[in-house]
Amino acid sequence: MLNLKVQDAINVQIKKEEFSSRLYLSMAIWCETNGYPGAAAFLYRHTEEERMHMMKFVRYVNNRGGKALVSDIEKPENDFSSLNDIFTKILVHEEYITESINNLYGITMDEKDFSTGNFLQWFITEQMEEENLMRTILDKISLVGMDKAGMFHIDKELEGMATAAKPIPAV
Ligand code: FEO
Repeated sequence: MLNLKVQDAINVQIKKEEFSSRLYLSMAIWCETNGYPGAAAFLYRHTEEERMHMMKFVRYVNNRGGKALVSDIEKPENDFSSLNDIFTKILVHEEYITESINNLYGITMDEKDFSTGNFLQWFITEQMEEENLMRTILDKISLVGMDKAGMFHIDKELEGMATAAKPIPAV
């Protein structure tokens, strides 16, 4: 049976992952309607990735004899000023999620729930990779500044990343 404190903390994380998915959906829509089809493809994919994260937690809680919770969720921001604005916000958001996963890990250690701690290792690695990826993209965007040709190139690169990415595994 899953420790109740751990279950409650995972249920809060489920809400955060769902919010992430909706935030990236909102960002993808902005990109698609503002001339950045590559960034849109990248973010649509990321929307699915966050949903997969959410589902991983849902299935884990249920498989351990607990009950996952679908919560009320706030509306994400839907107006952005630029690609730079979007990726800056993504990085800040991912740093927040990393901190949240680390806190969750801390709870599992306090509660001596080592199985969940072990399960969380995947997310700890994933967060490191996500932060690195977003930081790299943001660095490139900052480098080209307002240069339209440079931005076009970055959009193409993001499209390439979305196309080359491995299929999202079923949970
Ligand atoms: Fe589910 Fe991007 O963290």
